[in-house]
Amino acid sequence: MRKIIDINNDWEFTPSFTTAFLNGGGETQIVRLPHTCAETPYDYFDESIYQMVFGYRKRLDLSDRDSRRVFVCFGAAAHYAKVYINGELIGEHKGGYTAFEFELVTDDPAPLLAVELDTRESLNFPPFGKVIDYMTYGGLYREARIEYRENSYIRDVFAKPIVPDAIRVSSKANPKLVAGLTFDGVIDCELDIVGDADAVRLSVYHKDSDKVVAEATVPVGEAYSVTVPRAHLWDTLSPALYRLTAEILKEGTVVDSVTEDIGFRRAEFKKDGFYLNGRKFKLRGLNRHQSYPYVGYAMPRSMQRFDADILKNELGCNAVRTSHYPQSHHFIGRCDELGMPVFTEAPGWQNIGDEEWKNVGVEAVREMVREYRNHPSIILWGVRINESRDDHDFYVRTNEAARNLDPTRATGGVRCHKNSELLEDVYTYNDFIHDGVQPGCEPKKDVTSDMEKAYIISEYGGHMYSTKAFDDEEHRLEHMLRHARTLDAVASYDDIAGSFAWCMFDYNTHKEFGSGDRICYHGVCDMFRNKKLAAHLYAIQDSKEPILEISSSMDIGDHPATNRGRVYILTNADSVRFYKNDRFIHEYTHADTDFPNLAFPPIEITDYIGDQIAENEDFTEKQAQYVKDILNESSRFGMNNLSVEAKGKAAYLMMRYGMDHDAAYRLYGKYIGNWGDKSVMFRFEAYKNGKLVKELKVAPFEERVLCVEVDHTDLVEDKTYDVAAVRIRLTDQNGNNLPYFFGALNANVSGKLELIAESPVILRAGMGGLYVRTTGKEGKATLSLSIPGGESVSVDFDIMIKKNR
Ligand code: GAL
Repeated sequence: MRKIIDINNDWEFTPSFTTAFLNGGGETQIVRLPHTCAETPYDYFDESIYQMVFGYRKRLDLSDRDSRRVFVCFGAAAHYAKVYINGELIGEHKGGYTAFEFELVTDDPAPLLAVELDTRESLNFPPFGKVIDYMTYGGLYREARIEYRENSYIRDVFAKPIVPDAIRVSSKANPKLVAGLTFDGVIDCELDIVGDADAVRLSVYHKDSDKVVAEATVPVGEAYSVTVPRAHLWDTLSPALYRLTAEILKEGTVVDSVTEDIGFRRAEFKKDGFYLNGRKFKLRGLNRHQSYPYVGYAMPRSMQRFDADILKNELGCNAVRTSHYPQSHHFIGRCDELGMPVFTEAPGWQNIGDEEWKNVGVEAVREMVREYRNHPSIILWGVRINESRDDHDFYVRTNEAARNLDPTRATGGVRCHKNSELLEDVYTYNDFIHDGVQPGCEPKKDVTSDMEKAYIISEYGGHMYSTKAFDDEEHRLEHMLRHARTLDAVASYDDIAGSFAWCMFDYNTHKEFGSGDRICYHGVCDMFRNKKLAAHLYAIQDSKEPILEISSSMDIGDHPATNRGRVYILTNADSVRFYKNDRFIHEYTHADTDFPNLAFPPIEITDYIGDQIAENEDFTEKQAQYVKDILNESSRFGMNNLSVEAKGKAAYLMMRYGMDHDAAYRLYGKYIGNWGDKSVMFRFEAYKNGKLVKELKVAPFEERVLCVEVDHTDLVEDKTYDVAAVRIRLTDQNGNNLPYFFGALNANVSGKLELIAESPVILRAGMGGLYVRTTGKEGKATLSLSIPGGESVSVDFDIMIKKNR
């Protein structure tokens, strides 16, 4: 039988590969996988620090292999790996984003396995060859394992679960009804069997159960198929997952077994959009890179899964694009569990190289499809180099490669050109038309070369309005509004299948991009996945929790000419009641918006006064109304930018009531500027179905509060180390971020954890983060965080080591 041995611990690493290292000599450092070949600072560093020829080696213990064959399997090796056993080259792999394996042909029970890893960007295969807007960190950054296999073994299983045509989810379906839909689900399988076998046994289980729900034994060479009675759908509304085990039998004995998670779903791209199980819905997603501060690509299972959770549960996304390469199975597996469709693509960025380069590019497509095609969440293969020019012959080959290996899925390929040659099934286009003035997106007919095929906007936003969490309020607001304009425009077109914003979080990038500090501030979150304002716009589109955010600190001094400027409410509640110093001013609903196509649009606050003037001042009804209108408008746009209508009202007030500049100044100070008031508190109450679901106060700063959010405190070492994400915010007494706080934070960990952090930890825009990593030891640990001379917080962790590793 097959035996899997994880080999993620006790690797010897050298920053400089030599023949002496290959033969067991030289100085080394002990490391664990996932490993980044060079830890990087948070910002302002030179990307050449991770570009070298590095070396990894590990003495293996194969003493219990019996007569079995031995394979070494790497989840990823960025970017050009040569693998040696006892100093002899056994194979090489080009491409840092897909898994590969080699057989270890040796009788040595304790051979030395070594990897020479070239991480230089001068390599002649994708994504290299030109500049790239992301860092291509090197390392053995995913897990690795040894597998013992019999002479006969299963090299690959491709499971094709089929949903009968009659099974359709209606557009108004609710999750319970979808979960209740059942059918006879046929799973057709392709098996790549090495050696000989008599029969194939297919067994199906619910993902988290050991009870077999369907089984079939089929002689080798016949159609491998099993039918699951009363099967359930994999759908965004209720993502049922099954575990399929394929075994090969010889004379009645099982000689090999492979297990894959699968799901029954029908994903179709039609000319008018995307359909899942017969239900049309618009894909609303973000682009995700797989990078993290300090450790590049090297993060274990929990952190990969956490990003999927953030996308679905915190950012309201119903889809994600893995820009610009295939990403961890932990991430995609979590998308499977969450019912979140994935658009994944082969590595590359704008540049197409020579024939040798293209051959590796075609192979990268094959590797991607073969490796990932059992994931139900993957709905579309990107088979073009992101934003590359047309290249007929190359793209005929990449399309063919994907379709041959997976006839069940559509192909796409991201371009930034209109009317380019469409060899794929879906025109996937980066639409950067919106610049604050131009429309939110272009109509499909102005872009695609084939109206009969589906159309997706694969990117928007990004470099069109780079936004730092510490930019001023107006900038942060405009960032959110631009995302809203595009989401709203996309929602207005029935024939756009969906859109993916650029991008989920800020990322380190090359010198040619970003803000000069090697950071590209295109995220709706910062590098630690802390939310900028625009993130809340996505969150409110689909959240079970009530959300209420205000775009402003209400500090007029933060704005040009001390105008308050425009202020928006973001909420998924039905209505929001707005109070000033506990006096009711106005109630807003979703009808009060300039974004009519969004279910949950930003709502602008247009009234700061309510009936205060009518009540407090000795004015006629008309006079009070006019004064209120003018003050509200001046609060949003400034006294110098009043509309013609407001100017007319001002002239009327002057002529009819003799009101003058002094009166205007007094009234503005009293009702808008609140100058001299002891304190002004703006309060917002969000109501859903008539019930108060959330309250928010915006008032002058009084007190700093350190908020620390940890994704999980029970850490488990299983196949390798575990990491927890610690997101840190400094807020005021009402929980509002302090966007202009920059300061150091002391972080200490005692016990069985180590920090992945800068020292001291810096809060930028009142936000920051760090990670804690297990060390192979069981027990307890405490993380203490403190602002020198100020607030402090501590968090306790439990660390467990799984015994049967
Ligand atoms: C696109 C590119 C992305 C990113 C983005 C920034 O052109 O595909 O990788 O660079 O621009 O807006």
